[in-house]
Amino acid sequence: MPVISSGLNINSSDFKENFSCYEEKIKILRERQTFVVHGGRDKSIERHLARGKVMVRDRIDHVVDENSSFLELSTLAGFGQYDGSAPGAGIVTGIGIVHGQPCMFIANDATVKGGSLLPASIKKHIRAQEIALENELPTIYLVDSGGAFLPLQDEVFPDRDHFGGTFYHQARMSAAGLPQISVVLGGCTAGGAYVPALSDEVIIVKGIGRIFLGGPPIVKAALNEVIDAEDLGGADVHTLESGVADYIAYDELEAYAKVRSIVENLNSPLNLIGSDHSVKPPNYSPDELGGVISADSRIPFDVKEIIARILDGSEFQEWKPRYGPSIICGTGRLHGYPVGVIGNNGIIFSEAALKATHFIEMCNQRNIPLLFLQNTTGYMVGKDAEARGIAKDGAKMVSAVANSTVPKYTVLIGGSYGAGNYGMCGRGFRPRFLFSWPNARIATMSADTAETVLVDIRLGGLKAKTTSKKEIEELKSEVREQYEVQSDPYYATSRIWDDGLIEPAQTRDVLGLCLALSARQESPEPNFRVFRM
Ligand code: COA
Repeated sequence: MPVISSGLNINSSDFKENFSCYEEKIKILRERQTFVVHGGRDKSIERHLARGKVMVRDRIDHVVDENSSFLELSTLAGFGQYDGSAPGAGIVTGIGIVHGQPCMFIANDATVKGGSLLPASIKKHIRAQEIALENELPTIYLVDSGGAFLPLQDEVFPDRDHFGGTFYHQARMSAAGLPQISVVLGGCTAGGAYVPALSDEVIIVKGIGRIFLGGPPIVKAALNEVIDAEDLGGADVHTLESGVADYIAYDELEAYAKVRSIVENLNSPLNLIGSDHSVKPPNYSPDELGGVISADSRIPFDVKEIIARILDGSEFQEWKPRYGPSIICGTGRLHGYPVGVIGNNGIIFSEAALKATHFIEMCNQRNIPLLFLQNTTGYMVGKDAEARGIAKDGAKMVSAVANSTVPKYTVLIGGSYGAGNYGMCGRGFRPRFLFSWPNARIATMSADTAETVLVDIRLGGLKAKTTSKKEIEELKSEVREQYEVQSDPYYATSRIWDDGLIEPAQTRDVLGLCLALSARQESPEPNFRVFRM
């Protein structure tokens, strides 16, 4: 297979400048992740530990196989929202390996708002369930939650993808044959009681686990019954009387040993299988990726330099290299798994859109998963492009991406603007996973363009005559600030527009796990129907 030959000089001043600029971005990312991993307020952590309870990520560590890695998703969900009081949105989700079986974990962080579910927590919870469904993963719920976050009840309770959506997904996952196991380590009140009640198997820890539809204060108000929480919904009630839980554990560690034993006995046909192909590291170190990405986001970089640092042996069968060069297409292997890569080198022209469409069809026919590396300002505009039919060519690409049935993965390695986000398999096109690098920018258009467009709209509209120069300057700076804030990757990841920010050097391993998950499954036949010619 052809091997990419890098044109990059790692001793050049450009490389060094890019690299040190990227190191700063990585430093910020790690600091923010460390803040989240710490948990809630110190007082809440102290109280949690004083009750003999284990911190949420340590809980997961006790369940997963020793020396296996855990792919945490959307670590920075809620970042910068809720006055900074909800690190990680109070919930940890991710994929871990238990007895060789990849499992989805959904675990409440009781040190953050009592583990209650804010809007971002619910979105993160449902997203984890979607991933479990699509990748056929058993799910382990580590429940320690105050249920819906009541002060924002209108944003978490009634709508389609609100709290009820978590139970809807549990029922659908069960119908799809996916085992679900709950470990009750704290409150499961009201709606929260359905998490264990909808699971296949439930372990409850005596003294800390409680399941009830209405807690003691509600029971007192409604029935004038006075009862304490343990007698109302503790481990004895549910394992001896109600049958809502199946096993009692006398401490957390016993519960984690039990959950491991349950997974060991699932008789699952979906254990991870390594690729049958030999795995070669890339010829160029993934650690160099920071030096590839231009410190100045307006200076383009060649996506082939990225591909060379992600694929096995930097081997890349580039397809149609001379045609539509603003999109690079080709096949290779990643951790031994076949993959079709579609990467941007700038604006998408008609030829590039057609080339990508054709390539997507081929990968579907050959059952090769697709990896989109997004770095584009969007589709070409202007008289020539319109006359050439960029709208219908872009539509072909968008349609091919939407109807493609092989697994799709997207990484935002730079700009993700306009319909380029859609054609390159943005969130709306349901990639199985979407990760972003900390230099990514996502918006309808860049701040520079938005400033001009919005001023033009104002000057072309009804308010044109009454708008002063000062007001135009104010409008410009408002628009610029809005676009800069909202296209920041932390703004995006906080809202779960992606499955997490990852470091460029981690990308190969993260994608390797994603591809390993889909390698266990069959893809249905695609049906592309009508392409406008
Ligand atoms: N909505 C909003 N905030 C909640 C909450 C909820 N459902 N559940 C807990 N919290 C908050 C508390 O207000 C408290 O906030 P603070 O730290 O800013 O004071 C924090 O979470 C911890 O709660 P606290 O009661 O002090 O902790 P605890 O460990 O003693 O008890 C629970 C935890 C979950 C058992 C208890 O808070 C509880 O019963 N919550 C309400 C459960 C409920 O009725 N839910 C109905 C949802 S439909």
